[in-house]
Formats: sequence, structure tokens, C-alpha cells
Amino acid sequence: MNFDLLVRPNIRTLKPYHSARQDFLNGVLLDANENAFGSVLKTEDISLNRYPDPFQHELRKRLAELNNVSPENLFVGVGSDEVIDLLVRIFCEPQRDAVLLLEPTYGMYRVAASVQNALVDSCLLTEDFQIDLPSVKAALRETTKLIFCCSPNNPTANLLRTQDILELCKLGPLVVVDEAYIDFAQTPSISAYFSEYPNLIVMRTLSKAWGLAGIRLGYCIADPLIISYMMKVKSPYNINSLTSKAALVALQNVEQMRATVQSLLQERKWLQTELCQLPDVIQIFPSDANFLLVRVQNATVLYQELVKRNIIIRNRSTEPRLENCVRITVGTHEENELLLRAWREIMQ
Ligand SMILES: Cc1ncc(COP(=O)(O)O)c(C=O)c1O
Repeated sequence: MNFDLLVRPNIRTLKPYHSARQDFLNGVLLDANENAFGSVLKTEDISLNRYPDPFQHELRKRLAELNNVSPENLFVGVGSDEVIDLLVRIFCEPQRDAVLLLEPTYGMYRVAASVQNALVDSCLLTEDFQIDLPSVKAALRETTKLIFCCSPNNPTANLLRTQDILELCKLGPLVVVDEAYIDFAQTPSISAYFSEYPNLIVMRTLSKAWGLAGIRLGYCIADPLIISYMMKVKSPYNINSLTSKAALVALQNVEQMRATVQSLLQERKWLQTELCQLPDVIQIFPSDANFLLVRVQNATVLYQELVKRNIIIRNRSTEPRLENCVRITVGTHEENELLLRAWREIMQ
């Protein structure tokens, strides 16, 4: 597959900005108008007065190791949200090219595509929240560039079937699989199929299982040509020094991340059992993520009453297939008890 043909012509010929730290990270650095006298913020092992490595060599090497790919297959962004935005900007010519969404799903795909003024097509997931392959095939246009699928999906919480995602990969457009929640699932990443399907782009983030939403770090694994276009279009110093440092330290603690995930999964099981006993709970959908999708008698009233008690969940009931559904992030045991106590009070 020649990805060059999918890229917008102006991006193909774009001459990228050439930043100073691209050439030299060490030496007598008088090339970037930094403050050589130092920073007002004293940090022991990071030179905050210097621009960071624009290519994030160290971080990409570590993430590549963890994911069993080469650093050339890896792009690091300011959260997955930057990755989504760049993909749309690289591949979708405004008013001409389309993205295809499998809804209900994470809202940023639509927002990023709309900002780019790309066409947004949407297929409903099936009733059990799986990919409806015939309707995807029917919705494809000649100018569909990207199919976004999220597995485990937000807000439905379930994994999409691997076989179905691989079927999507045979259709032609790039298939972006958002694995933000994959560490909570019992299934390995779809990136294992990457060599067979070079149009597969897998997105991951440190915001969920790693507990680092505050540092804003996401990444994607893709064909080196796609990665090189992302490098060309991103802002020169997108990942800041503090974020890089925090991520590198955190990524040494794989075991701790796994242990936290295990605790969370136990807590999710307990919360699910407790929620089942509440009189207005109609259905709790199976979850492969760190949240539960719950159908209740009246989602809007429940949501508003919980807000009054300073407990905030997400009302998803205006989305297709999600009538009267709320999304509840698994909290700490104390937080979940507060939720349940407030909920019981509302039900009285
Ligand atoms: C499916 C999905 N993808 C991506 C993100 C955002 O990830 P990041 O924090 O890396 O931008 C979220 C956040 O809720 C999400 O639910």
C-alpha cells in the first residue's frame, strides 16, 4: 500500500520547520535564543532553560521496547488527542476527504475531523456494541481516509472483536485503533497484527492505566512513512522536558502499573455487584475498561441528583443506542462508597 497517495498533497510537499535542537542537544548552545543564565525554577536533573529533544529519542526508544516495535514505528504526542488531530490534518483534505466513525464512541474523533472541515461519516455499532461490517462497507466513500475504532470502546466499555478490526484493515483506508483502555482488558494489543496490515495505526496513552493524564502523553504505532509525516507536521517541541522525564521514570514501573490495574479491576467487580442491587439499575454492560456503562430508569435525573451531592458521573443518554445510560469511572473504594450512598439516598 502506498501511503503517500493517501496524504494531502500540500503535506506531501510541505517543507517542515527546522528547529535548533534537531541538530544539537549538547555543546555550547548559542543557537536557540534560550536563557543561558538558567531557569527561575530549579530542577536537579532537567535543564528547563533548554528546548527539549524535538524527536524524543530516549522516550521513543523506551516506548518502542515496551511495545516490541522499532522507534521508527512510534510517534509521541501531547495526549492521544494530538495524535488524532495530526492524523486528520495529514490525511483529510477539507470538504473532500472523509473519516468514518463507529458510534457511539469517543467524541474527539468527530471534533478533530470537524475542525479540519473533513466529512464525517458514521456507522452505528451493533446492539451488542460490535462493528457492523456490512454498514461500514456501505458507508465507505472513495475519499474515506481514516476509520476510527476504539477498543475497548469509550463509552460502551467493551473490546471490539479483533477479527472484525482486521476485516476493516482489508477495506483500504487507514484503520486507527484507539487502545487507550487496553491495559484493563484481558486481550493483547492489536499491534501484534501490525506487520500483516501496514494500514493499521494503534494509539495508546499514559492517561489511563499509567495514571498520568496530567502529563499529557499519548503515542501511536504505525508504518514508518506515516510516522515521518507526523514528525513533519507536529509543532517542533511538542513534548516538554517535564513530561518526558516523568514518562521515562514512570515507564520503569511496569509492575506497579500492572498491580494498580489489578486493584482497579477488583474494585470494578465490587462496584458492579453493588450497583446491580440498586432498584433503578436496569443493566450494567460488560466492561473491559476502567469504567462501567450502566442503564438506569432515568439517567438525567440521576445525574442531576448526584451533581447536587457533589458526585460527578457522565450522562451519555443522548448518544445513539445509549438511552438512559450513564458512564461511571471506577473510583477508589471510598469514592465508590460515597457514590453508592448518594445513589441509595436519591432512590429513597
Ligand atoms: C478512547 C479515548 N481515547 C483517547 C483519550 C484521551 O487520551 P489522552 O489523554 O492521551 O489525550 C480518551 C480520554 O478519555 C479516551 O477515552
